[in-house]
Amino acid sequence: GSGISLVAEGKLTTCTHLPYEPFQFRKDNKVVGFDVDIVDLVAKQLKVTQEIVDTPFEGIQTGEDLNAGKCDLAAAGMTITPVREQNLDFSAPYFDATQALIAKKGSPYTSLAGLKGRKLGVQQGTTGETYAKKNGAGVETVQFEDVALLLTAVKTGQVDAAVNDNGVLFEYVRKNPELAVTAEFDTGEKYGIAVRTGNTALREEIDKAVKAARADGRYEAIYTKWFPA
Ligand code: ARG
Repeated sequence: GSGISLVAEGKLTTCTHLPYEPFQFRKDNKVVGFDVDIVDLVAKQLKVTQEIVDTPFEGIQTGEDLNAGKCDLAAAGMTITPVREQNLDFSAPYFDATQALIAKKGSPYTSLAGLKGRKLGVQQGTTGETYAKKNGAGVETVQFEDVALLLTAVKTGQVDAAVNDNGVLFEYVRKNPELAVTAEFDTGEKYGIAVRTGNTALREEIDKAVKAARADGRYEAIYTKWFPA
């Protein structure tokens, strides 16, 4: 084989946290999305098939799941951060993101300052939560386990607005036009695929697969599939 040791023979096991459309979500009983297609490039290169494990984001971003051998890699629209780099290793960046604000269309909430004394939803353990707590003085943050619960709370008025990654929020408003993206914060984030600390062999396979796909147009095709112009 490839000489890469995998937690389950013949499989590339991916930890992710659903739903995070368009990066990973269930459609017709299958997990699909941008990240799924990117990891499939790696699986194909290793001549194995991808197996996806849906697990809370907290265990992913702390490195706990990878260290426990629950999966070979984590692909979850996860931002590369210095804190996370202490507990896991990241591939080269494969996607750019920034934090953004979502609220009911026509609502006055277009900044964190404007949310003083109001309720702002955040997804637990994410860079959006960290950003909101750091920059939202006087704003009451409310934690949600996943983005589905978070965005439903905006719809029902349980929170006045929510912070999350721009790609996910723009996809959501496309399908839920009663909401709008009211601000983008330019946090300059980059997504990486994570492996166990020291798993250089697999990390290099990921980088090689993504690099080749960028060079021959497959990356671009995956991009336009999930982010149609
Ligand atoms: N990019 C953000 C972060 O890394 C949010 C990721 C959430 N991902 C998910 N699959 N739920 O913190």
